[in-house]
Amino acid sequence: MRSLIDILDLSVQELDGLTDTALDIIDHPEKYARACEGKKLATLFFEPSTRTRLSFEAAMYELGGHVIGFSEAASSSASKGESVADTAKIVSCYADIIAMRHPRDGAALVAALNASIPVINGGDGGHCHPTQTLADLLTIRREMGRFDHLTIGVCGDLKYGRTVHSLVGAMSRYEGTRFVLISPEELRMPDYVLRAMDEQGIPYTETADLDGAIPQLDILYMTRIQRERFADPAQYERLKDSYVLTPALMAGAKADMAVLHPLPRVNEIAVAVDADPRAAYFRQALNGKYMRMALILKLLDAAKDPAPQASLPADGPSGWRCHNRRCICQTEQELPQTFYRAGDGVVRCAWCDAVAERE
Ligand code: NCD
Repeated sequence: MRSLIDILDLSVQELDGLTDTALDIIDHPEKYARACEGKKLATLFFEPSTRTRLSFEAAMYELGGHVIGFSEAASSSASKGESVADTAKIVSCYADIIAMRHPRDGAALVAALNASIPVINGGDGGHCHPTQTLADLLTIRREMGRFDHLTIGVCGDLKYGRTVHSLVGAMSRYEGTRFVLISPEELRMPDYVLRAMDEQGIPYTETADLDGAIPQLDILYMTRIQRERFADPAQYERLKDSYVLTPALMAGAKADMAVLHPLPRVNEIAVAVDADPRAAYFRQALNGKYMRMALILKLLDAAKDPAPQASLPADGPSGWRCHNRRCICQTEQELPQTFYRAGDGVVRCAWCDAVAERE
């Protein structure tokens, strides 16, 4: 049984395979119109979403399948106190595959460990968002024609923006990738993402200056400042207008630079930029549907083989605690605090990847 929790669960070959399938779906939709006949996708959305949920639902319908689910925690038994683990077991009785979004880091892994059907992570807190990265990859392939030798600027809320964490992981595996990390000091990329780049020898620079960085970029990936993840509303107010991409800023960019954004946009891209042919973000949202179709096909096919499910690291180090207040281990009933030692020797929480502290 395969699930998709983290984009690195998929090899580069598998990512290439998914983009090939998506391109074939675009060219020959009729070939796929009955591919999931009789199958049900459960969309479990404990947190608001437009694109991710609706594109999953549209994807399943276009494959000839059915969709059940809920679009807010208040209309599920989570509001009665049901755990993620129990919800995953119950939904396994009713559906063939789950797409889930949850406000807590690590929630999708808990679901995958307890479900008997594939689980797709549609965003877990500020942690990962692998299917957005699938949309991003198809967009890069269609806009740039390649994945290698690209200088990628990621701009905005790099601390809480789960989409950029997954994007950096995926693009770090291609040759010649360079990152320019553009954010205010308070919203810098988390240390676990930086360390992963260091370990792989991926060149990156950190700056607060979008104007200065833009001329060197092949791709500019804008993100929203993630208001809902700030503990201090005053800090959000101070940082919310840190970056606004305007036609004047675009004048300094390469003629073939692509602008991506996972959306929703608040005001970090001026509406006037939408008319610029380099603005790829609405095409990116459409690409997300095709990649989700390809992913559903792949995981339902893999589910025919009862191979082992997602598992926790065996014999993890003990005597540590997770202090990430957004981690699922802080709220889920009887969930063991579990840790692993990363390649750099640092002990991290197995659920949310945050650096652990001594008990
Ligand atoms: C993103 C998300 O939910 O993390 N949206 C999306 O899925 N397209 C980005 C965001 O909310 O800012």
